[in-house]
Amino acid sequence: MHRALIVVLLGAQVLGLWAAPLVDPSYRFTAETFAPVIAALPEPLRAAVQADPQGFLRDYKPLLTQSADLLVLVDKKNELPSDYEPDDLVSLRAPVFPANHGGLKFRKAYLKSLSALLDAAKKEGLKVTLSSSYRSWAYQKDLFQRYAAKDGLATAERYSARPGRSQHQLGTVIDFGSVTPEFADTPEGQWLAAHAGAFGFSLSYPDGKEDLTGYVYEPWHFRYIGVQSCAVQKKWFGDMQQWLTEFHSSQGPVLKAALKK
Ligand code: DAL
Ligand code: ZN
Repeated sequence: MHRALIVVLLGAQVLGLWAAPLVDPSYRFTAETFAPVIAALPEPLRAAVQADPQGFLRDYKPLLTQSADLLVLVDKKNELPSDYEPDDLVSLRAPVFPANHGGLKFRKAYLKSLSALLDAAKKEGLKVTLSSSYRSWAYQKDLFQRYAAKDGLATAERYSARPGRSQHQLGTVIDFGSVTPEFADTPEGQWLAAHAGAFGFSLSYPDGKEDLTGYVYEPWHFRYIGVQSCAVQKKWFGDMQQWLTEFHSSQGPVLKAALKK
C-alpha cells in the first residue's frame, strides 16, 4: 500500500501533475530556481527579497518590459562602444529647458519626463538649470584628459569617467545646477534629491558611496531610468542605482526568461 502510494506520487511528478509551487504566478520560478537569482545581492537586500519574493517579483515586472537601454550598466568596469550614440538626440532649448550653455542634447524618448520635472520645480518657485547632458565618446575622452592634466590621474578618476564609461554617453543623464558640492544645500538640489525619482530620475553617485560607485558625491548628476525603476531602486535596492543596474545586468535576462507571456 505504502509502496503503491510512492509509485503514484513519483508517476505524478514525472507527468508534471505534482510540481513544486511557483513563487509568483507570473513567473516560472520555484523557490529552488529563484534562490540563485538573488544569491549575489548584498545581504540586507537579499534578506528583504527572501522575506517577500512575490512582492519583489511583482514590483520588478515592469522593469522587464521597459526599454532595455534604461538600466544598462555603465560604470568603471562596464563600458559602452565608442560608436554608441542614441539615434533620437534633440537639442535642449530655453525657455522649457533652461540650459546654462548652448549645445545640450537629450534623448527625445524621455524629454517629456525632463520637462515634467522642470515644470514641477518651477511651480515650487525653483529655478533648476541644466549644465550638461549627452556627451559623445570623443568629447568624454577630451574632458577626462583635461581633468587628468589639471588634477592628476588618480584625482580625475574619482570625479570623471574615462571615455565609454560615462553615463553621459547614454543621452539620458542631466547635470543640474552649478555642478559644485554646494548644489546639495541649495533649495533646487534639495528638491531634486527628494522629488527627481517621482519623474524617473535617479541620483547616480550618492554621498559616501565612492566605494560602490567609483565616484565621489555628485548631487547634480541624475540618470533617467524610469519612474518604476526609481521606485524599485528605493524599495528593494537601498536607493542605490549601482546595485539595481548591477543586478539588472546579471539577473534581468534570467527574470525575463522566467516571465510568463
Ligand atoms: N562625472 C561623471 C562620473 C562622468 O564623468 O560621467
Ligand atoms: Zn554628470
